[in-house]
Amino acid sequence: MIAKCVLLALLVAFASASPITQDNGLVNYREALDMFLDAWKKMLPCGFAADNIPVLAPLTLDFYDFSYVNGDTNLVGNVSNIRISGLNNFQVLSGSYNQSTLSATFDVMFPALQILGSYEVEGVLSIGGLPLPIRQSVLINKKITDWRFVGEYTFGQSLTNSNGLRIKDFNLQYFVAGVEADNWDQYMDVAANNYLNSFINSFSLLFTEEIQPYVNPMFAKYVLPSINSLLSNLDMTELSNYFAMQAELWNNAACNVKA
Ligand SMILES: *[C@@H]1O[C@H](CO)[C@@H](O)[C@H](O)[C@H]1NC(C)=O
Ligand SMILES: *[C@@H]1O[C@H](CO)[C@@H](O)[C@H](O)[C@H]1NC(C)=O
Repeated sequence: MIAKCVLLALLVAFASASPITQDNGLVNYREALDMFLDAWKKMLPCGFAADNIPVLAPLTLDFYDFSYVNGDTNLVGNVSNIRISGLNNFQVLSGSYNQSTLSATFDVMFPALQILGSYEVEGVLSIGGLPLPIRQSVLINKKITDWRFVGEYTFGQSLTNSNGLRIKDFNLQYFVAGVEADNWDQYMDVAANNYLNSFINSFSLLFTEEIQPYVNPMFAKYVLPSINSLLSNLDMTELSNYFAMQAELWNNAACNVKA
């Protein structure tokens, strides 16, 4: 779920990052992209079934159960009533595009994402051969503030189609101002819950710093290939037509729901 959320954020950041301007066609690329983003934001509270886009503001998950067995580790559990809000409240702080170098920069921020829900897990977690019994029933209450994506990339010629595009030299950095967990495990007392929450808060921030070096390689490996495979079929005019057309479809659906 969180991974999906991160991917989504990256895609939004990517889309926000594509103020492509080139004055050789009838269409204004920058405008097409602004339309796309604006329409995307408005569509999120309704989703768009024709494109298989679920409601993303808020993003909800009713129930998901799992079991995990690996050696002496044996866990069963479930996640329920997950609700992630704030995905439609991103702000594009800045963006630029240089026509001679074909390179773009972007700066996008999600001011506040809130994650609510609950999970239960039971079983044995084996750490270095030591069996650790686990029993948790947790109400999730977590807030992420000022989650910011800053990056740059350059357009190049597709490697598979000389008329198509690809993204090369992608570089992304991201920052989190704060993680505020206020979870509640019914099997623990107040002090233990407080302790665990403060641990999660500091560990989450540390974690975002620790994984920074892996973000670009992971993006290059898991995200760029699918984006580039789509881009390889498009030139600038077609890409911009695509943005404009999507925007129109979403706008025509006239989502009235307030997230
Ligand atoms: C998961 O969910 C059900 C509710 O359907 C609950 O009764 C069950 O005990 C839960 N916990 C685990 C650890 O599977
Ligand atoms: C675009 O990039 C070129 C080469 O780096 C630079 O000389 C030019 O000033 C840039 N143009 C803009 C509008 O920033």
